[in-house]
Amino acid sequence: MKNIVVLISGNGSNLQAIIDACNQKKIGGTLRAVFSNKADAFGLERARNAGIPAHALTASQFASREAFDRELMLEIDAYAPDVVVLAGYMRILSPEFVAHYQGRLLNIHPSLLPKYPGLNTHRQVLDNGDEVHGTSVHFVTDELDGGPVILQASVPVFAGDNEEDITARVQSQEHDIYPLVIGWFIAGRLEMRDNAAWLDGRPLPVQGYAAD
Ligand code: GRF
Repeated sequence: MKNIVVLISGNGSNLQAIIDACNQKKIGGTLRAVFSNKADAFGLERARNAGIPAHALTASQFASREAFDRELMLEIDAYAPDVVVLAGYMRILSPEFVAHYQGRLLNIHPSLLPKYPGLNTHRQVLDNGDEVHGTSVHFVTDELDGGPVILQASVPVFAGDNEEDITARVQSQEHDIYPLVIGWFIAGRLEMRDNAAWLDGRPLPVQGYAAD
């Protein structure tokens, strides 16, 4: 059985979708542990409720980002992860951390990358009057929200939508596509090669997998 470790900072609705998908055997791996950089993250409670070890590390107790990430890596590696999944983990990663998990580190970002890397994506979509928004699952590289895209889901933006409306619309897609991609990875169908995402032995286009 392959091992999954999830990193969160907050609500953990994506974590919940991953927990549910594991329980329903839609992902053929075991969720071994959840880590948060916020002790009060609700996602930690979701993990405990599901009987999954839940850990918090507090950045202020470490001298530097590198020291924090070194401890985090040690604790994560105790669970021998085949894949490390960032699910609303709101902390910049050190290059050492990214290098250590290269090729087995996934993230979900609430925009149609390469549009809107960084924070406040929903706000920017509204401010710019975009009619289409979405979310992207990608491999993590040193470039912030810049690693190869694996799968995207688009949602419409309707006149009169507020930030809450589009956040909810995007998140409901996230809860479908993130478990799907993790399942591909666990099944050995997905890999990062030459800075591209490959599915079933074929390189994916820059916008990720697209069904015909
Ligand atoms: C998600 O929308 C994800 O795209 C972004 O942070 C949010 C986390 O939400 N990276 P949750 O904690 O999974 O509910």
